[in-house]
Amino acid sequence: MWSSRLLFVLAATGSAVGLGNIWKFPYITGENGGGAFVLVYLICIAAIGIPVMIAEVLMGRAGRQSPINTLRTLVRDSGTSSFWTLIGWMGVLAGFLILSYYAVIAGWAVSYVFRLGGGAFVGADGELSSGIFNDFLANPWEVLLWHSLFMVATIIIVARGVVRGLQVAVRWLMPILLVLLIGLVGYAAVYGDFAAGVAFLFSFDASKLSWAGTLTAMGHAFFTLSLGMGAIMAYGAYLQSNTSISSTVITIGTLDTVVALAAGLAIFPIVFAVEGLAPGEGPGLMFQTLPIAFGNLPGGTVLGALFFLLVSFAAITSAISLTEPALTYLVERYNAKRSRVAISLGSFCWLLGIGTVLSFNTWADAKLFGLTFFEVVDYLSYKVMLPLGGMLIALFAGWVLSKQTVVDQLGFEDGMKWTLWRTGIAFAAPAGIVIVFVYTIYQSFG
Ligand code: PHE
Repeated sequence: MWSSRLLFVLAATGSAVGLGNIWKFPYITGENGGGAFVLVYLICIAAIGIPVMIAEVLMGRAGRQSPINTLRTLVRDSGTSSFWTLIGWMGVLAGFLILSYYAVIAGWAVSYVFRLGGGAFVGADGELSSGIFNDFLANPWEVLLWHSLFMVATIIIVARGVVRGLQVAVRWLMPILLVLLIGLVGYAAVYGDFAAGVAFLFSFDASKLSWAGTLTAMGHAFFTLSLGMGAIMAYGAYLQSNTSISSTVITIGTLDTVVALAAGLAIFPIVFAVEGLAPGEGPGLMFQTLPIAFGNLPGGTVLGALFFLLVSFAAITSAISLTEPALTYLVERYNAKRSRVAISLGSFCWLLGIGTVLSFNTWADAKLFGLTFFEVVDYLSYKVMLPLGGMLIALFAGWVLSKQTVVDQLGFEDGMKWTLWRTGIAFAAPAGIVIVFVYTIYQSFG
Protein backbone atom coordinates (compact mmCIF):
# COMPACT_ATOMS: atom_id res chain seq x y z
CA MET A 1 0.00 0.00 0.00
CA TRP A 2 1.02 3.59 -0.56
CA SER A 3 2.65 4.76 2.62
CA SER A 4 0.57 7.92 2.65
CA ARG A 5 -1.92 9.92 0.68
CA LEU A 6 0.96 11.94 -0.72
CA LEU A 7 2.50 8.86 -2.28
CA PHE A 8 -0.72 7.97 -4.06
CA VAL A 9 -0.99 11.54 -5.31
CA LEU A 10 2.58 11.30 -6.56
CA ALA A 11 2.07 8.01 -8.36
CA ALA A 12 -1.24 9.01 -9.92
CA THR A 13 0.17 12.39 -10.90
CA GLY A 14 3.19 10.60 -12.34
CA SER A 15 0.80 8.58 -14.45
CA ALA A 16 -1.30 11.55 -15.49
CA VAL A 17 1.48 14.02 -16.27
CA GLY A 18 3.42 12.88 -19.28
CA LEU A 19 3.70 13.25 -23.01
CA GLY A 20 -0.04 13.85 -23.08
CA ASN A 21 0.46 17.22 -21.41
CA ILE A 22 3.66 18.45 -23.00
CA TRP A 23 3.69 16.81 -26.40
CA LYS A 24 0.12 15.91 -27.32
CA PHE A 25 -1.98 18.69 -25.80
CA PRO A 26 -0.18 21.50 -27.66
CA TYR A 27 -0.14 19.79 -31.03
CA ILE A 28 -3.78 18.70 -31.05
CA THR A 29 -4.76 22.16 -29.82
CA GLY A 30 -2.80 23.56 -32.77
CA GLU A 31 -4.48 21.20 -35.20
CA ASN A 32 -7.93 21.99 -33.85
CA GLY A 33 -7.74 25.75 -33.97
CA GLY A 34 -7.04 26.75 -30.37
CA GLY A 35 -9.40 28.42 -27.89
CA ALA A 36 -12.68 26.65 -28.59
CA PHE A 37 -10.91 23.31 -28.44
CA VAL A 38 -9.22 24.22 -25.15
CA LEU A 39 -12.54 25.23 -23.64
CA VAL A 40 -14.18 21.94 -24.61
CA TYR A 41 -11.18 20.10 -23.22
CA LEU A 42 -11.45 21.92 -19.88
CA ILE A 43 -15.18 21.21 -19.68
CA CYS A 44 -14.51 17.53 -20.40
CA ILE A 45 -11.89 17.40 -17.63
CA ALA A 46 -14.28 18.91 -15.09
CA ALA A 47 -17.57 17.31 -16.09
CA ILE A 48 -16.42 13.90 -17.31
CA GLY A 49 -12.78 13.35 -16.31
CA ILE A 50 -13.03 14.13 -12.61
CA PRO A 51 -16.15 11.99 -11.98
CA VAL A 52 -14.70 9.07 -13.96
CA MET A 53 -11.41 9.35 -12.10
CA ILE A 54 -13.25 9.25 -8.78
CA ALA A 55 -15.10 6.19 -10.04
CA GLU A 56 -11.90 4.41 -11.05
CA VAL A 57 -10.21 5.07 -7.72
CA LEU A 58 -13.22 3.98 -5.71
CA MET A 59 -13.71 0.82 -7.75
CA GLY A 60 -10.02 0.01 -7.44
CA ARG A 61 -10.06 0.49 -3.70
CA ALA A 62 -13.28 -1.50 -3.32
CA GLY A 63 -11.86 -4.43 -5.29
CA ARG A 64 -8.19 -4.25 -4.31
CA GLN A 65 -6.92 -6.38 -7.22
CA SER A 66 -5.96 -5.94 -10.86
CA PRO A 67 -8.71 -4.11 -12.78
CA ILE A 68 -9.97 -7.30 -14.42
CA ASN A 69 -10.29 -9.16 -11.12
CA THR A 70 -11.58 -6.08 -9.34
CA LEU A 71 -14.41 -5.97 -11.87
CA ARG A 72 -15.07 -9.68 -11.42
CA THR A 73 -15.36 -9.15 -7.67
CA LEU A 74 -17.61 -6.12 -8.01
CA VAL A 75 -19.79 -7.90 -10.57
CA ARG A 76 -20.14 -10.88 -8.25
CA ASP A 77 -20.94 -8.68 -5.25
CA SER A 78 -23.61 -6.77 -7.12
CA GLY A 79 -24.97 -9.90 -8.78
CA THR A 80 -24.87 -8.48 -12.31
CA SER A 81 -23.72 -9.62 -15.69
CA SER A 82 -20.07 -10.44 -16.32
CA PHE A 83 -20.38 -8.17 -19.38
CA TRP A 84 -18.86 -5.42 -17.25
CA THR A 85 -15.52 -7.19 -16.97
CA LEU A 86 -15.13 -6.04 -20.57
CA ILE A 87 -13.95 -2.75 -19.02
CA GLY A 88 -10.92 -4.56 -17.67
CA TRP A 89 -10.11 -6.45 -20.86
CA MET A 90 -10.53 -3.47 -23.12
CA GLY A 91 -8.31 -1.46 -20.78
CA VAL A 92 -5.54 -4.02 -21.05
CA LEU A 93 -5.69 -3.79 -24.82
CA ALA A 94 -5.85 0.02 -24.84
CA GLY A 95 -2.84 0.24 -22.54
CA PHE A 96 -0.97 -2.04 -24.85
CA LEU A 97 -1.78 0.00 -27.96
CA ILE A 98 -0.98 3.31 -26.28
CA LEU A 99 2.33 2.12 -24.87
CA SER A 100 3.40 0.87 -28.29
CA TYR A 101 3.55 4.40 -29.67
CA TYR A 102 4.11 6.21 -26.40
CA ALA A 103 7.53 4.55 -26.14
CA VAL A 104 8.42 5.74 -29.64
CA ILE A 105 7.62 9.38 -28.92
CA ALA A 106 9.35 9.12 -25.56
CA GLY A 107 12.36 7.83 -27.50
CA TRP A 108 12.30 11.07 -29.51
CA ALA A 109 12.47 12.97 -26.24
CA VAL A 110 15.40 10.90 -25.00
CA SER A 111 17.30 11.54 -28.21
CA TYR A 112 16.69 15.26 -27.74
CA VAL A 113 18.49 15.17 -24.40
CA PHE A 114 21.65 14.44 -26.36
CA ARG A 115 20.87 16.72 -29.29
CA LEU A 116 20.37 19.71 -27.02
CA GLY A 117 23.23 18.76 -24.74
CA GLY A 118 25.50 18.50 -27.78
CA GLY A 119 24.68 22.08 -28.74
CA ALA A 120 22.87 21.25 -31.99
CA PHE A 121 20.41 24.09 -31.48
CA VAL A 122 22.69 26.96 -30.48
CA GLY A 123 21.27 30.06 -32.15
CA ALA A 124 18.63 27.94 -33.89
CA ASP A 125 15.82 29.41 -35.98
CA GLY A 126 12.67 27.73 -37.27
CA GLU A 127 14.33 26.32 -40.34
CA LEU A 128 17.26 24.74 -38.51
CA SER A 129 15.01 23.30 -35.83
CA SER A 130 12.52 21.77 -38.29
CA GLY A 131 15.41 20.48 -40.39
CA ILE A 132 16.98 18.66 -37.45
CA PHE A 133 13.64 17.13 -36.51
CA ASN A 134 12.82 15.95 -40.02
CA ASP A 135 16.28 14.51 -40.58
CA PHE A 136 16.00 12.61 -37.34
CA LEU A 137 12.61 11.10 -38.15
CA ALA A 138 13.72 10.16 -41.64
CA ASN A 139 16.18 7.68 -40.18
CA PRO A 140 14.19 4.70 -38.86
CA TRP A 141 17.23 2.98 -37.38
CA GLU A 142 18.05 5.88 -35.14
CA VAL A 143 14.44 6.28 -34.02
CA LEU A 144 14.28 2.54 -33.37
CA LEU A 145 17.39 2.74 -31.22
CA TRP A 146 15.91 5.36 -28.86
CA HIS A 147 12.56 3.64 -28.88
CA SER A 148 14.23 0.39 -27.81
CA LEU A 149 16.21 2.15 -25.11
CA PHE A 150 13.09 3.67 -23.61
CA MET A 151 11.23 0.35 -23.71
CA VAL A 152 14.09 -1.46 -21.99
CA ALA A 153 14.18 1.19 -19.26
CA THR A 154 10.42 0.83 -18.77
CA ILE A 155 10.68 -2.96 -18.56
CA ILE A 156 13.47 -2.76 -15.99
CA ILE A 157 11.54 -0.41 -13.74
CA VAL A 158 8.29 -2.36 -14.08
CA ALA A 159 10.10 -5.65 -13.45
CA ARG A 160 11.64 -4.41 -10.22
CA GLY A 161 8.30 -3.32 -8.79
CA VAL A 162 6.90 0.09 -9.03
CA VAL A 163 6.79 1.89 -5.79
CA ARG A 164 10.07 3.18 -4.39
CA GLY A 165 12.09 4.49 -7.28
CA LEU A 166 9.07 5.95 -8.91
CA GLN A 167 7.98 7.95 -5.96
CA VAL A 168 11.37 9.57 -5.70
CA ALA A 169 11.25 10.42 -9.38
CA VAL A 170 7.84 11.99 -9.14
CA ARG A 171 8.46 13.77 -5.89
CA TRP A 172 11.64 15.52 -6.97
CA LEU A 173 11.66 15.59 -10.72
CA MET A 174 8.08 16.63 -11.46
CA PRO A 175 8.33 19.88 -9.48
CA ILE A 176 11.57 20.72 -11.32
CA LEU A 177 9.84 20.02 -14.62
CA LEU A 178 7.05 22.39 -13.68
CA VAL A 179 9.54 25.10 -12.70
CA LEU A 180 11.37 24.70 -16.01
CA LEU A 181 8.09 24.86 -17.91
CA ILE A 182 7.15 28.06 -16.11
CA GLY A 183 10.61 29.41 -16.93
CA LEU A 184 9.91 28.61 -20.58
CA VAL A 185 6.62 30.47 -20.35
CA GLY A 186 8.72 33.41 -19.13
CA TYR A 187 10.98 33.07 -22.15
CA ALA A 188 7.97 32.90 -24.43
CA ALA A 189 6.54 36.02 -22.77
CA VAL A 190 9.72 38.00 -23.39
CA TYR A 191 10.93 36.74 -26.75
CA GLY A 192 7.87 35.14 -28.31
CA ASP A 193 4.61 36.62 -29.48
CA PHE A 194 2.94 36.11 -26.13
CA ALA A 195 -0.24 38.00 -26.97
CA ALA A 196 -0.80 35.89 -30.07
CA GLY A 197 -0.12 32.70 -28.10
CA VAL A 198 -2.55 33.61 -25.34
CA ALA A 199 -5.18 34.68 -27.84
CA PHE A 200 -4.80 31.42 -29.72
CA LEU A 201 -5.20 29.33 -26.56
CA PHE A 202 -7.97 31.24 -24.86
CA SER A 203 -10.07 33.17 -27.32
CA PHE A 204 -13.29 31.37 -28.03
CA ASP A 205 -14.23 31.12 -31.66
CA ALA A 206 -17.27 28.86 -31.97
CA SER A 207 -16.84 28.57 -35.73
CA LYS A 208 -13.66 26.55 -35.16
CA LEU A 209 -15.52 23.92 -33.20
CA SER A 210 -16.42 20.67 -34.94
CA TRP A 211 -17.70 17.37 -33.61
CA ALA A 212 -14.50 15.69 -34.67
CA GLY A 213 -12.57 18.28 -32.65
CA THR A 214 -14.90 17.75 -29.72
CA LEU A 215 -14.23 14.02 -29.82
CA THR A 216 -10.51 14.74 -29.86
CA ALA A 217 -10.86 17.04 -26.84
CA MET A 218 -12.89 14.46 -24.97
CA GLY A 219 -10.52 11.63 -25.86
CA HIS A 220 -7.66 13.77 -24.70
CA ALA A 221 -9.33 14.47 -21.35
CA PHE A 222 -9.29 10.71 -20.76
CA PHE A 223 -5.79 10.29 -22.12
CA THR A 224 -4.21 13.05 -20.09
CA LEU A 225 -5.80 11.87 -16.83
CA SER A 226 -4.91 8.23 -17.62
CA LEU A 227 -8.58 7.25 -17.56
CA GLY A 228 -10.76 4.71 -19.27
CA MET A 229 -8.29 1.83 -19.27
CA GLY A 230 -7.79 0.90 -15.63
CA ALA A 231 -4.43 2.53 -14.88
CA ILE A 232 -5.88 4.70 -12.14
CA MET A 233 -8.08 1.81 -11.00
CA ALA A 234 -4.95 -0.31 -10.59
CA TYR A 235 -3.33 2.42 -8.50
CA GLY A 236 -6.52 2.92 -6.50
CA ALA A 237 -6.22 -0.69 -5.37
CA TYR A 238 -3.27 0.33 -3.18
CA LEU A 239 -4.86 3.44 -1.68
CA GLN A 240 -5.38 3.51 2.10
CA SER A 241 -8.97 3.19 3.23
CA ASN A 242 -9.17 6.47 5.11
CA THR A 243 -7.99 8.78 2.33
CA SER A 244 -10.58 11.11 0.82
CA ILE A 245 -10.91 10.12 -2.81
CA SER A 246 -12.71 13.18 -4.11
CA SER A 247 -10.28 15.83 -2.87
CA THR A 248 -7.29 13.71 -3.90
CA VAL A 249 -8.66 13.35 -7.42
CA ILE A 250 -9.32 17.08 -7.72
CA THR A 251 -5.71 17.79 -6.74
CA ILE A 252 -4.41 15.42 -9.41
CA GLY A 253 -6.73 16.81 -12.08
CA THR A 254 -5.67 20.36 -11.28
CA LEU A 255 -1.96 19.58 -11.38
CA ASP A 256 -2.36 17.82 -14.70
CA THR A 257 -4.26 20.73 -16.21
CA VAL A 258 -1.73 23.28 -14.99
CA VAL A 259 1.11 21.39 -16.66
CA ALA A 260 -0.76 21.16 -19.97
CA LEU A 261 -1.66 24.86 -20.02
CA ALA A 262 1.91 25.82 -19.11
CA ALA A 263 3.18 23.72 -22.01
CA GLY A 264 0.74 25.49 -24.33
CA LEU A 265 1.79 28.91 -23.02
CA ALA A 266 5.43 28.03 -23.60
CA ILE A 267 4.97 26.66 -27.10
CA PHE A 268 2.45 28.87 -28.93
CA PRO A 269 4.12 32.26 -28.41
CA ILE A 270 7.21 30.73 -30.05
CA VAL A 271 5.13 29.33 -32.89
CA PHE A 272 3.78 32.78 -33.70
CA ALA A 273 7.08 34.61 -33.36
CA VAL A 274 9.25 32.29 -35.44
CA GLU A 275 9.22 32.22 -39.19
CA GLY A 276 8.29 28.90 -40.78
CA LEU A 277 6.38 27.41 -37.86
CA ALA A 278 2.63 26.90 -37.77
CA PRO A 279 0.28 25.80 -34.97
CA GLY A 280 -0.93 22.82 -37.00
CA GLU A 281 2.57 21.36 -37.27
CA GLY A 282 1.41 17.98 -35.90
CA PRO A 283 3.31 15.59 -33.64
CA GLY A 284 6.58 17.44 -34.20
CA LEU A 285 5.34 20.70 -32.65
CA MET A 286 7.08 20.45 -29.28
CA PHE A 287 10.28 19.17 -30.85
CA GLN A 288 10.44 22.01 -33.33
CA THR A 289 9.54 24.89 -31.02
CA LEU A 290 11.09 24.44 -27.59
CA PRO A 291 14.66 23.78 -28.83
CA ILE A 292 14.56 27.21 -30.46
CA ALA A 293 13.99 28.77 -27.04
CA PHE A 294 16.84 26.80 -25.51
CA GLY A 295 19.11 27.50 -28.46
CA ASN A 296 18.80 31.22 -27.89
CA LEU A 297 19.03 31.33 -24.11
CA PRO A 298 22.17 31.70 -22.00
CA GLY A 299 22.76 28.28 -20.45
CA GLY A 300 20.21 26.85 -22.86
CA THR A 301 22.34 23.85 -23.76
CA VAL A 302 22.29 22.53 -20.21
CA LEU A 303 18.74 23.66 -19.48
CA GLY A 304 17.47 22.16 -22.73
CA ALA A 305 19.10 18.80 -22.05
CA LEU A 306 17.68 18.86 -18.53
CA PHE A 307 14.23 19.73 -19.82
CA PHE A 308 14.09 16.80 -22.23
CA LEU A 309 15.51 14.53 -19.54
CA LEU A 310 12.65 15.51 -17.26
CA VAL A 311 10.13 15.02 -20.06
CA SER A 312 11.58 11.52 -20.50
CA PHE A 313 11.09 10.86 -16.79
CA ALA A 314 7.54 12.17 -16.96
CA ALA A 315 7.00 9.77 -19.86
CA ILE A 316 8.40 6.79 -18.02
CA THR A 317 6.19 7.30 -14.96
CA SER A 318 3.22 7.26 -17.37
CA ALA A 319 4.52 4.31 -19.38
CA ILE A 320 4.76 2.24 -16.20
CA SER A 321 1.13 2.87 -15.39
CA LEU A 322 0.13 1.81 -18.90
CA THR A 323 1.46 -1.68 -18.19
CA GLU A 324 -0.07 -1.93 -14.73
CA PRO A 325 -3.55 -3.35 -15.62
CA ALA A 326 -2.11 -6.11 -17.81
CA LEU A 327 0.81 -6.80 -15.53
CA THR A 328 -1.15 -7.15 -12.30
CA TYR A 329 -3.71 -9.36 -14.02
CA LEU A 330 -1.13 -11.74 -15.46
CA VAL A 331 0.70 -11.90 -12.15
CA GLU A 332 -2.56 -12.79 -10.36
CA ARG A 333 -3.77 -15.18 -13.00
CA TYR A 334 -0.64 -17.25 -13.52
CA ASN A 335 1.04 -16.52 -10.24
CA ALA A 336 3.86 -15.46 -12.53
CA LYS A 337 6.96 -13.49 -11.67
CA ARG A 338 6.61 -9.76 -12.23
CA SER A 339 9.85 -9.61 -14.15
CA ARG A 340 8.87 -12.34 -16.60
CA VAL A 341 5.52 -10.75 -17.34
CA ALA A 342 7.18 -7.35 -17.75
CA ILE A 343 9.64 -8.69 -20.30
CA SER A 344 6.98 -10.45 -22.39
CA LEU A 345 4.56 -7.54 -22.33
CA GLY A 346 7.30 -5.05 -23.12
CA SER A 347 8.61 -7.11 -26.02
CA PHE A 348 5.17 -7.32 -27.64
CA CYS A 349 4.69 -3.58 -27.26
CA TRP A 350 8.12 -2.91 -28.63
CA LEU A 351 7.37 -4.98 -31.70
CA LEU A 352 4.08 -3.20 -32.32
CA GLY A 353 5.88 0.11 -31.81
CA ILE A 354 8.01 -0.53 -34.88
CA GLY A 355 4.90 0.26 -36.91
CA THR A 356 4.91 3.75 -35.39
CA VAL A 357 8.64 4.17 -35.95
CA LEU A 358 8.08 3.49 -39.65
CA SER A 359 4.96 5.66 -39.89
CA PHE A 360 7.17 8.74 -40.06
CA ASN A 361 9.46 7.48 -42.80
CA THR A 362 9.35 4.16 -44.72
CA TRP A 363 5.62 3.65 -44.22
CA ALA A 364 4.61 7.31 -44.34
CA ASP A 365 2.51 6.68 -47.44
CA ALA A 366 0.99 3.37 -46.38
CA LYS A 367 -2.46 4.40 -45.25
CA LEU A 368 -5.64 2.83 -43.99
CA PHE A 369 -8.66 5.14 -44.34
CA GLY A 370 -6.15 7.93 -44.94
CA LEU A 371 -4.34 7.29 -41.67
CA THR A 372 -0.82 6.05 -41.06
CA PHE A 373 -0.14 3.11 -38.78
CA PHE A 374 0.63 5.48 -35.90
CA GLU A 375 -2.55 7.43 -36.54
CA VAL A 376 -4.67 4.27 -36.64
CA VAL A 377 -3.30 3.00 -33.32
CA ASP A 378 -3.65 6.45 -31.80
CA TYR A 379 -7.19 6.90 -33.10
CA LEU A 380 -8.38 3.50 -31.93
CA SER A 381 -6.94 3.90 -28.47
CA TYR A 382 -7.68 7.47 -27.51
CA LYS A 383 -10.70 8.36 -29.59
CA VAL A 384 -12.50 5.03 -29.36
CA MET A 385 -11.32 2.78 -26.54
CA LEU A 386 -10.66 5.31 -23.77
CA PRO A 387 -14.00 7.15 -24.13
CA LEU A 388 -15.82 3.83 -24.47
CA GLY A 389 -14.06 2.48 -21.39
CA GLY A 390 -14.83 5.72 -19.56
CA MET A 391 -18.49 5.47 -20.47
CA LEU A 392 -18.75 1.89 -19.23
CA ILE A 393 -16.99 2.86 -16.00
CA ALA A 394 -19.41 5.77 -15.51
CA LEU A 395 -22.44 3.56 -16.16
CA PHE A 396 -21.12 0.86 -13.88
CA ALA A 397 -20.30 3.20 -11.00
CA GLY A 398 -23.42 5.28 -11.53
CA TRP A 399 -26.05 2.60 -12.07
CA VAL A 400 -24.77 -0.87 -11.23
CA LEU A 401 -22.59 -0.59 -8.17
CA SER A 402 -24.57 -0.62 -4.93
CA LYS A 403 -25.03 2.73 -3.27
CA GLN A 404 -23.52 1.30 -0.10
CA THR A 405 -20.23 0.41 -1.80
CA VAL A 406 -19.98 3.89 -3.28
CA VAL A 407 -20.86 5.64 -0.02
CA ASP A 408 -18.37 3.51 1.91
CA GLN A 409 -15.61 4.58 -0.45
CA LEU A 410 -16.50 8.23 -0.86
CA GLY A 411 -17.37 8.87 2.77
CA PHE A 412 -20.40 11.09 2.06
CA GLU A 413 -23.96 10.32 1.02
CA ASP A 414 -25.79 13.56 0.76
CA GLY A 415 -25.26 17.26 0.38
CA MET A 416 -23.60 19.24 -2.35
CA LYS A 417 -20.70 16.85 -2.92
CA TRP A 418 -23.03 13.90 -3.37
CA THR A 419 -25.25 15.76 -5.82
CA LEU A 420 -22.25 16.83 -7.88
CA TRP A 421 -20.89 13.31 -7.96
CA ARG A 422 -24.25 11.74 -8.86
CA THR A 423 -24.88 14.28 -11.60
CA GLY A 424 -21.42 13.80 -13.04
CA ILE A 425 -21.15 10.04 -12.98
CA ALA A 426 -24.71 8.97 -13.66
CA PHE A 427 -25.75 11.66 -16.14
CA ALA A 428 -23.17 14.14 -17.41
CA ALA A 429 -20.38 11.67 -18.17
CA PRO A 430 -22.35 8.92 -19.95
CA ALA A 431 -24.63 11.36 -21.79
CA GLY A 432 -21.72 13.59 -22.81
CA ILE A 433 -19.76 10.66 -24.19
CA VAL A 434 -22.72 9.23 -26.09
CA ILE A 435 -23.61 12.60 -27.62
CA VAL A 436 -20.05 13.24 -28.81
CA PHE A 437 -19.79 9.73 -30.26
CA VAL A 438 -23.12 9.89 -32.05
CA TYR A 439 -22.58 13.34 -33.55
CA THR A 440 -19.04 12.53 -34.67
CA ILE A 441 -20.18 9.38 -36.45
CA TYR A 442 -23.14 11.24 -37.92
CA GLN A 443 -20.90 14.04 -39.17
CA SER A 444 -18.29 11.74 -40.66
CA PHE A 445 -20.70 9.46 -42.47
CA GLY A 446 -23.94 11.41 -42.65
N1 PHE B 1 -1.74 10.33 -18.95
C1 PHE B 1 -0.55 10.00 -19.68
C2 PHE B 1 -0.03 11.27 -20.34
O1 PHE B 1 -0.70 12.28 -20.35
C3 PHE B 1 -0.77 8.91 -20.69
C4 PHE B 1 -1.55 7.76 -20.19
C5 PHE B 1 -2.77 7.42 -20.77
C6 PHE B 1 -1.09 6.99 -19.12
C7 PHE B 1 -3.53 6.38 -20.30
C8 PHE B 1 -1.85 5.94 -18.63
C9 PHE B 1 -3.07 5.64 -19.21
O2 PHE B 1 1.04 11.29 -20.87
